[in-house]
Amino acid sequence: MTHFPTIPVEVTLPRIEDPRGNLTFIQDSDQVPFDIERVDWIYDVPGGVFRPGHILVDKPMLVTALSGSLDVTATGAFGKACFTLNRPSTALLLPPSTKFEFSNFSTNTVAMTMSGTPGLSVPDEIITLENYKSNGHFTSLVSQCRIIELPRLGDLAGSLTPVVNGQGQLPFDTRRVYYLYDIPADAERGGHSHYCEQRLIVAAAGCFDVAVSDGKSWRTYTLNRPYRGLYVPQGLWRVLNNFSSGSVALALCSTPYSEDDYVRSFNEFLALSAKKIDI
Ligand code: TYD
Repeated sequence: MTHFPTIPVEVTLPRIEDPRGNLTFIQDSDQVPFDIERVDWIYDVPGGVFRPGHILVDKPMLVTALSGSLDVTATGAFGKACFTLNRPSTALLLPPSTKFEFSNFSTNTVAMTMSGTPGLSVPDEIITLENYKSNGHFTSLVSQCRIIELPRLGDLAGSLTPVVNGQGQLPFDTRRVYYLYDIPADAERGGHSHYCEQRLIVAAAGCFDVAVSDGKSWRTYTLNRPYRGLYVPQGLWRVLNNFSSGSVALALCSTPYSEDDYVRSFNEFLALSAKKIDI
């Protein structure tokens, strides 16, 4: 059984530095002691606006600033504490039964919250090339990508987009979230496919293009709304480019991180995809 703190704690998330932009990922780990059940992102909050929170009954919650900065006031059995979040690789972990409020948003801030239940680990998928159903190189087509319209709960205090596992919003449950930030305007990311991982890609800030290929055809999507995501099934090659300045690419993924799930050579991808079957 995973233990989580009884007071709010600032946690340092992994930060993978890269000249093509920095990357932070969040999954069940020592820093994030729960399995993800819900992810929300908050954006378009006018400066000076106060966003009242609520009491999380029995779940711990993680808050981070994907872009910009905000203050979090947390009240609970520990008393009252105030924190400033201004780095995408730093998060605040709030214990269960904490009342929280957000204020002092800087211009163009994107805040993300995640909550879940400790100790409900789902077993990892077994990745085998023989398993046609879980290896999308044999099955997935570009035509299976689609834009998924997400809720946009907006008012004068900004907009919030929630994605909740088990509610059919996505074709998979979110097991890991990662985001790219500090991306130079001419950078290109991606350039690989996955045996198993499915994902939803969202422009949480700014805009960029995602080009996807199934080995035969290519299609390019422009993402430029925080409430519209591109669903990419497993087994498709994908490249992200044309990033606008200040953009943040947010990805909700169906599997925990595993380097074994990657195909990083385009020729290997083409060879795998050449065996595509009709199902
Ligand atoms: P990669 O997926 O290759 O990035 P991109 O597709 O954006 O170019 O990941 C870059 C590096 O980060 C690579 O060394 C693997 C590591 N990484 C993790 O450790 N965890 C993760 O969840 C992700 C997405 C990447």
